[in-house]
Amino acid sequence: MKEIGKFPQDFIWGTATASYQVEGAYNEDGRGLSIWDTFSKTEGKVLHGHNGDTACNQYHLYKEDIKLMRELGVKSYRFSISWSRIYPEGFGEINKPGIIYYKNLCDELLGAGIEPCVTLYHWDLPQTLEDKGGWRNRDTAKHFAEYAETVFKELGSRVKMWITLNEPFCSAMLGHGTGEHAPGMKDLSTAYKVLHNLYLAHGLAVKRFRKGKFTGKIGISLNLDRPRPASDSQNDKKAAEIGVIKGSRLYMDPLFGRGYPEWLFKNDPDFKPEIEEGDMQIIAQQLDFIGLNYYTEQAAVLKDETNWKAEKTKIDKSEMNWDIVPEGLTRLLVWMSENYGNPEIYVTENGGAFKDTLSSDCISCNDPDRINYLKSHFSACKNALEQGVNLKGYYLWSFMDNFEWAYGYTKRFGITYVDFNTQERIPKDSFYFYRDYISANRSS
Ligand code: FCB
Repeated sequence: MKEIGKFPQDFIWGTATASYQVEGAYNEDGRGLSIWDTFSKTEGKVLHGHNGDTACNQYHLYKEDIKLMRELGVKSYRFSISWSRIYPEGFGEINKPGIIYYKNLCDELLGAGIEPCVTLYHWDLPQTLEDKGGWRNRDTAKHFAEYAETVFKELGSRVKMWITLNEPFCSAMLGHGTGEHAPGMKDLSTAYKVLHNLYLAHGLAVKRFRKGKFTGKIGISLNLDRPRPASDSQNDKKAAEIGVIKGSRLYMDPLFGRGYPEWLFKNDPDFKPEIEEGDMQIIAQQLDFIGLNYYTEQAAVLKDETNWKAEKTKIDKSEMNWDIVPEGLTRLLVWMSENYGNPEIYVTENGGAFKDTLSSDCISCNDPDRINYLKSHFSACKNALEQGVNLKGYYLWSFMDNFEWAYGYTKRFGITYVDFNTQERIPKDSFYFYRDYISANRSS
């Protein structure tokens, strides 16, 4: 193991958000509605009936936000594009003001010395496509490829880092399996079909990227789940193995040309994706990197012969009630490297919801638990680098407090506090901690 004092000189320190969570301006400049507009306005779906109509109003305040990012010293900002700002109907006529907004955003970033990192799909499918069957309909994959190509053409001279999909697990399983996310369906076999169409969309978009000879890197962001066995017992080990298949191999294997794990076809009666000839080749496009979103690691016990469940632990937790397990990040990164030929990896999300205490004059915000979380996860990244993982960068989730999906505004992940009444931004202590950490690791 080689000891590294500092992170490599070219390591990308970044921070991340997503369109529906921060932009607001939901009905401005020709934006069409997305499934999250519909879902958040359906009673009982989002805590307190919160929605993203205004969110952090980044659509109007991006210059102010980028000024803060510059102070933070990040090299890259990961944001997502709202598909329905570009194509209000999902396809057809391009909505020019949408393109202009993202061009301006990129120009402002580049002017501040910050590289844009663009996610093409962070869960906000145009509602009109949902009305035509959404991700259950293969055509949506084709529309996605069209949309992706338009964005490559329009923003390609400004953007050198692309992410096709954010966490297909969530779009498929939470959106169609458990119903916690938009569009709110509850059918596991549909969820698997949706996953297949999402993966087709990903593959088709990467094909267009290569064919158009756009420059820069393209990859995907996955939230892999790789639980550890809760104990040394045979059953717990078996549970963890099932967990790896369902939570990690299902997502990694097809991207690397290995198809879906055989185990699923044999053991999961719901696993019946509608695979047409040539699909698996389309899905297995050569990628420039894999993005990993990591928050926690769970301890697995058997639920029944073919299912695992997470065991409650005594480990410290974030406000999401997620165990804080920095070593799990190292383990996962090493596992990805060892099993998939040491690909380039970026941590495209990591961070936590923790208690924030605003000072009485509202000019500072104390969040020691978040600082501890970050510190330990930076060390976990360093450990992975020392073990030979080809880790190229880290994006902290999130630059600012924002709309946390089904939790509305009740969970704050930001290193910048947002007063959602006044839209005031107040850097938290963790903001300054990250700033100093980046600067100390950049020098020499
Ligand atoms: C991830 C999402 C991101 C954010 C974090 C906390 O699953 O990609 O948008 O909500 O969780």
